Amino acid sequence: MVLPGGNTTGAVRIGDVVHKPASPWTPAVHALLRHLESAGFEGAPRAFGIDAEGREMLSYLPGETIGGRIPWPAWAFADATLVQTGRWLRRLHDLTEDFSPPPGARWFAGATMRPGMVVGHQDAAPYNAVVAGGSLTGFFDWDTAGPSTREFDLAFSALSWVPLYAQAEALGFDRPDDRGRRLHLLLDAYAYAGDRRRFGTVIVERARRQAEVMRSMAGAGDPAATALLPVAAGLERSADEVENLPEAFWSPQSSST
Ligand SMILES: Nc1ncnc2c1ncn2[C@@H]1O[C@H](COP(=O)(O)OP(=O)(O)O)[C@@H](O)[C@H]1O
Ligand SMILES: [Mg+2]
Repeated sequence: MVLPGGNTTGAVRIGDVVHKPASPWTPAVHALLRHLESAGFEGAPRAFGIDAEGREMLSYLPGETIGGRIPWPAWAFADATLVQTGRWLRRLHDLTEDFSPPPGARWFAGATMRPGMVVGHQDAAPYNAVVAGGSLTGFFDWDTAGPSTREFDLAFSALSWVPLYAQAEALGFDRPDDRGRRLHLLLDAYAYAGDRRRFGTVIVERARRQAEVMRSMAGAGDPAATALLPVAAGLERSADEVENLPEAFWSPQSSST
């Protein structure tokens, strides 16, 4: 069965196993997924290796996903899933602080693990989430995971879950005045201890970096990235908007914007 959603080559489900084209990052990602499994982390697929056709095999996470739906379902904008995402990211980051990637590991973004870094999912957005019984159970699509600061990964989830996307209304989010409250709800769920104004600058950087990567992949002829050029433009607009949010947005007490 072909699974709905996703922008690249497509995932198919055979029984309880998802088969998806492997990439140069698959060995590093599978080592990460095994590390999470041995730590008892339930919010990620299990890695089952490579099938006879060279596709990666992952456990199917049962539940509801967004797939290709627009507008997004209500759970994508609910406080409960936002809070669960903050807690999920905190746990992922805490569990990967001591992760040693296999020698020669290659990650999508090319980073290497250094002291103080964690492994970020880097695409922990509603469209990669699984929800069961109204609660977030985990995230799939680990292709772009890799060594990261905590903030850089958290920034992408802030963009997509608060949401701080310029095009959020088209996805079904109709409470722009609630974004400040929701940003702080996410950061509180993460137990974020850093400076929140500074975190805002990381969101802007993160959105611009993502757009740059998409544009350079499209420039190199990558068809999936070419199809995503409107998303890159949206991220650039989002970055401009986030940069222009009032100071008060970043302080937990007075965030009404
Ligand atoms: N482990 C999994 N468990 C449940 N569903 C999955 C899993 N992996 C992928 N899917 C489904 O397949 C779709 C595409 O997979 P994804 O890994 O997100 O691909 P892409 O890299 O193209 O975004 C997802 O939207 C989801 O519906
Ligand atoms: Mg996906």
